[in-house]
Amino acid sequence: MDHFALKNGVLHAEDVPLTRIAEEVGTPVYVYSRATLERHARVFREGLEGVPHKLIAFAVKANPNLAVLKVLQQQGFGADVVSGGELIRALAAGMAPEMIVFSGVGKTRAELELGLDKGIGQFNIESREEGRELAELAAARGERAPACLRINPDVDAKTHEKISTGKAENKFGIPMVHAREAYDELAALEGLNLRGVAVHIGSQLLDLEPLETAFAKVGTLVEDLRAAGHTITHVDLGGGLGVPYRAGENPPSPAGYGAMVARVTKDWGVHLTFEPGRVIAGNAGVLLTQVVRVKRGGNGPPFVIVDAAMNDLARPALYGAWHDFIAVEPSGERMTANIVGPICETGDTFARDRECDALVAGDLAVFRTGGAYGATMASSYNSRGFVPEALVDGDRFAVVADRIPAAAIMDAERVPDWL
Ligand code: LLP
Repeated sequence: MDHFALKNGVLHAEDVPLTRIAEEVGTPVYVYSRATLERHARVFREGLEGVPHKLIAFAVKANPNLAVLKVLQQQGFGADVVSGGELIRALAAGMAPEMIVFSGVGKTRAELELGLDKGIGQFNIESREEGRELAELAAARGERAPACLRINPDVDAKTHEKISTGKAENKFGIPMVHAREAYDELAALEGLNLRGVAVHIGSQLLDLEPLETAFAKVGTLVEDLRAAGHTITHVDLGGGLGVPYRAGENPPSPAGYGAMVARVTKDWGVHLTFEPGRVIAGNAGVLLTQVVRVKRGGNGPPFVIVDAAMNDLARPALYGAWHDFIAVEPSGERMTANIVGPICETGDTFARDRECDALVAGDLAVFRTGGAYGATMASSYNSRGFVPEALVDGDRFAVVADRIPAAAIMDAERVPDWL
C-alpha cells in the first residue's frame, strides 16, 4: 500500500498534487512519500514481532537521501552500509553508530578505519583476508572489532542474475564449505570479536523458499560452530524481500516473511539483524517526468519521449525491469507506446509496446516504484545533471536534494594549462 493516488483526476503524493511539484521544482524529479516510508517501516517491524532480539538496518544503497534516512531513523531503524560514503550519511541522519552494520566485499583499509573510528556496531566480513586486515587495524588500537562472517550458502535466489548474490559463483561471502575453517582462524584473532554469521542471497525475491533454504543452512552452521566451541550471539539475515512492480506480482508479505523467520530461527538464541532496502523504499517513490514529444513509430507503436532517461532511472536499461508508467492527469484514453528517454542509445528505453494512458507533448507522467534503486543509481551520462528529490508530508513538500545541473558537474573539471 502506498500514498500515491488519483484525487479529482490528478495524481497526488499524499495530499500534494504532482502538478504542483512539477511546477515548482521542474521535471524530472523523484518524489517520495513520508507516510508510505513510515507505513512500510511499521509493517516490516510488525511482521517481525515474533522475533525477540533484533536490529532492523535499512540498506542505505536503496535510497541514501538524508531526509529518507532521517524518517527511518525516527522509525527506530539502523543502517546497513557498503561504503564510507554511506556510513557518513547514516551518521549524518542521526543513526546511532552501534546500529550501523558495514557490509561489502571490497571495503578498503580507509573504510575499515572509518568504521573503527566511528565505533560502528558490526562489520560483516566477506573474506579471511578482510578479517585479518580488520583484526590488525583494531588490535593496533587495542580494540576488538565486532564482526560477523558473511557466508555464501550457494542457494539460487530465483531473481535477476545481476542481483543474485548467494550462488557459489557470486563474489559474495565465504563458501559454506570453507566457513568452519575461516571462522576458526578469524575467531582466534585478538583484534576481532567474531560473534556470528551473516547471509544475503539476493534482491527482489518473490518467493520465501530460497530464503528459508539459506536460513536453514545458516542454522546448521551455527550448530556446528557452537559444537566446535564458538560463542555465537549474532546472525544477520540480510535483505531481499521483493515488492510488486506490476499487477499480478505477489511478493511475500513482511508478515509471511516474519513468520517464516520466527519459525526457522526459534531455537537459535541469537540477536538477529535484518537489512531491508527495497521493501521499505521501493513503492514510497516515483520519478515524475514530462513528455517532450510524441513521435510516430517506424513499423511499431509511437515513441513517447520523456524528459527522464536511463541516467536518472537505470533499472529498465540495466535489468530489463518493469516500472508502471501512468499519467498524472489521465484522460481515460489509452494508447500503446514505446516509452523512451532522450539519451543517444537504444537502451534508453523504459518500456516497449506498453499499453498506457494516452499522452501528448507537455503531459506529466510518473514511473512508479522509483523509491529504491532510483536516484541512487543515477549518473550524468550525456552530460545530463542529477535529478532533484522531493519529500512529501501530508499537504506539504520539501526539496530534499537539489537538482545538480550539468554545468555544476563541469565546474569540477579542469583543463591543464599545457593544453
Ligand atoms: N544487504 C546486502 C548485503 C545487500 O547486498 C543488499 C542489496 C541488501 C541488503 C538490500 O536488499 P533489498 O532488501 O533492497 O533487496 N540495483 C538493484 C538491486 C541491488 C541490490 C544489491 N544488494 C536493483 O535495482 O534491482
